[in-house]
Amino acid sequence: MDTEFDDLQEMVLRDARKKYSEITIEHFMNPHNFGEMSQSDGHSSITGPCGDTIEIWLKVSDGIITEASFETDGCGTSIASGSMVTVLAKGKTLDSARTISPEDILKALDGLPEEKQHCALLASNVLRAAIDDVLTADVD
Ligand code: FES
Repeated sequence: MDTEFDDLQEMVLRDARKKYSEITIEHFMNPHNFGEMSQSDGHSSITGPCGDTIEIWLKVSDGIITEASFETDGCGTSIASGSMVTVLAKGKTLDSARTISPEDILKALDGLPEEKQHCALLASNVLRAAIDDVLTADVD
């Protein structure tokens, strides 16, 4: 049974490698910073035109993002994009993290197939909205 599963997994991976970079597959299979965060300083949830939702939570100290986490109900590339955007955001100032573009995410993932590039756009939009939520909360 284990051997059958390993064979199947190897077959799926072989197919995935034809379309996706190693780093995208790695972030899809072992997402970084996955899961809801309790007591965050900022949160955002956006559903893209494809119907998938990405949520991001941030913890901020002295204007620096100390923690970032995400969840998604979307495809493998939305998982990889959410994972990568949280990795890129952590340790940055709010201003600097706000400039993380879909292209930055695509570059960090070593590219995505054209039909999946909107996942990176969704991830960067959610990050920006979560940062705006932190800034709005500060003003209140
Ligand atoms: Fe919608 Fe990936 S297909 S976020």
